Amino acid sequence: MVMKEYLSLAETAELIGKSKETLRRWDNEGILNAVREPVSNYRVYRRKDIEKLLGKLFDEVVEEEVSNYVEPEKDYNVLELFAGAGGLAVGMEKAGLKCVALNEIDKWACQTLRKNRPNWNVLEGDIKNFDFSEYKNSVDVVTGGFPCQAFSYAGKKLGLNDARGTLFYEFARVVKEVNPLICIGENVRGLLSHEKGKTLEGMISILDEIGYKVVPVQVLKAIHYKVPQKRERLILVGIRKDIDTVYKYPEPYNKIYNLSDALKKGDLFDTNVPKSEGSKYPKHKKEVLDLVPPKGYWRDLPINIQKEYMGKSFYLGGGKTGMARRIGWDEPSLTLTCSPAQKQTERCHPDETRPFTVREYARIQTFPDEWQFMGSISQQYKQIGNAVPCNLGKEIGYSIINFLNEYYLKSNKSEASISLAKAL
Ligand SMILES: C[S@@+](CC[C@H](N)C(=O)[O-])C[C@H]1O[C@@H](n2cnc3c(N)ncnc32)[C@H](O)[C@@H]1O
Repeated sequence: MVMKEYLSLAETAELIGKSKETLRRWDNEGILNAVREPVSNYRVYRRKDIEKLLGKLFDEVVEEEVSNYVEPEKDYNVLELFAGAGGLAVGMEKAGLKCVALNEIDKWACQTLRKNRPNWNVLEGDIKNFDFSEYKNSVDVVTGGFPCQAFSYAGKKLGLNDARGTLFYEFARVVKEVNPLICIGENVRGLLSHEKGKTLEGMISILDEIGYKVVPVQVLKAIHYKVPQKRERLILVGIRKDIDTVYKYPEPYNKIYNLSDALKKGDLFDTNVPKSEGSKYPKHKKEVLDLVPPKGYWRDLPINIQKEYMGKSFYLGGGKTGMARRIGWDEPSLTLTCSPAQKQTERCHPDETRPFTVREYARIQTFPDEWQFMGSISQQYKQIGNAVPCNLGKEIGYSIINFLNEYYLKSNKSEASISLAKAL
């Protein structure tokens, strides 16, 4: 097997997720030393040095000083839209919020929700067909991971009616109907740049029109919230304009969990991952991936196999570090997608040449082992891949509780002072 012993500055930066500037600084500080190519004098990195450093970065025992934990001062109700298999809902429930109803169109995802929480009020069907006015003023929070769609612009500030036909319109329509104190939308990082930022701008202006001020948008990295996966989620928080309580995003934790924490007994889970079904690689793909070491990717293949496996992509530049990728035990998993064996986003098991099983997938998304998924294996992978990791959902849940505790404390105080004034 031919192993690439040296990686360029750009390849190293991409592999370990740091900028080239950071790597240059690390070189000067002796954290990760580069060597110089004799002819070009470019910096290149020894693979074994990178592996050693990655191991150190993720193994480091960090004293945790952060805690977002907070107890709800009273019962808080959530209406969860686009609920999927319940990643966000499970997380919010763990934090101490109560889901009064969940809407979802996919019948398998609805079966998953009902199977695990027979008491939850699962409203199955297209959101367009539901009227939520019965929840008016009785729900504290409306949440939802609406699928992202482009708006058609007439060149002016976007209003609610201009967005008709999109799922964001439905999200905003329900918020307007229910009048919660706070609404939280969840989406992919790509929303920031979708239509050069106009889509997000339009969403903010629509929320403004229906009476919600949007908090500066943040992209939360799941690895900072006890999730052994490099997933990112954009969070769009709207606060009803008559409320002056400040919303604070959950604080990131110092400790980073890795694949071993996901699949083996340890801090995150009390047992090793349970056995379960999973998909398999076709024979040829397995033969190719057999040649890739943990944390390796297509560049670790013999050159003739690289060319054959990559086809045209071989000549097209760019790192393509997701191709023929095998995850290592001492790193977080790369983002899981809706299907576990896609060529551009391969995530092979570290020791065995196969995709992650359904239960391994669920662990990497921090679903509890008891949470069952309904439907065929590919339906199950899809539901898991679509989810907000439960542990991230839990931290978002704490941030909501914190906001609501402060809001009710303030409004109780002002009510008390009004009645005192009346009594005097
Ligand atoms: C990103 S997923 C949400 C994941 C979920 N928040 C979780 O944490 O598991 C988006 C969901 O929206 C659902 N959806 C798409 N169109 C819908 C519609 N018209 N009405 C209701 N749900 C819809 C999809 O079936 C999918 O499950």
